[in-house]
Amino acid sequence: MSKNILFCLTGSISCYKACEVISGLIKTGYSVQTVTSDSALKFIGEATLEGLTGRKVLTNTFEPGTMMSHIDLARWSDLILVCPASAKTINNLASGTLEGLIGELYLANNFRKPFLIAPSMNSEMLAHPATQENMLKLKKYGARLLDTDHGQLACGETGWGRLLNPTTILQIIGEYFSTETETRGLDI
Ligand SMILES: Cc1cc2nc3c(=O)[nH]c(=O)nc-3n(C[C@H](O)[C@H](O)[C@H](O)COP(=O)(O)O)c2cc1C
Repeated sequence: MSKNILFCLTGSISCYKACEVISGLIKTGYSVQTVTSDSALKFIGEATLEGLTGRKVLTNTFEPGTMMSHIDLARWSDLILVCPASAKTINNLASGTLEGLIGELYLANNFRKPFLIAPSMNSEMLAHPATQENMLKLKKYGARLLDTDHGQLACGETGWGRLLNPTTILQIIGEYFSTETETRGLDI
């Protein structure tokens, strides 16, 4: 059975790398529904996301016809990934006060299905005590915080904070479902 991934994008330069992850998920056979913050749409166009997934991009909680989407989507999903996760989104998720559809999905999911967060930000934003403390808080609640890569950042600095390599993110997601795949293999 195909797995359903809710793919949430927030405002980071690395939204373009997230498209590679989405493309890889689609090629593997997952159904992917994208949800974006308003800022994410300044970095990547709806045409790209809809073109990759074949599904309308969701951003607005109050869009006519989709008003129960935070509950429906949380039920539909087998895994939720926030990728890239901006500093602002991480810090607001930790207090449960993130505005918009991503914030509502986070609360409605309530860690019943895996909730993964792939941070992407400047190294000082990452090292900030508020970000560090809130990442720990999210882990304690039940989220899986992915590492970041070390290297050159868009701001010109070198350090931690780069979005993890798309191939690594795809591997991590694949691991969540690999046991089921093996079991299915035995059934055949
Ligand atoms: C060119 C540019 C690149 C940015 N890259 C990042 C980033 O990688 N990580 C981050 O946390 N914020 C980044 N920001 C700032 C966020 O986009 C900004 O804080 C935004 O309000 C985040 O909103 P959101 O979390 O609701 O998507 C960037 C801003 C600009 C203008």
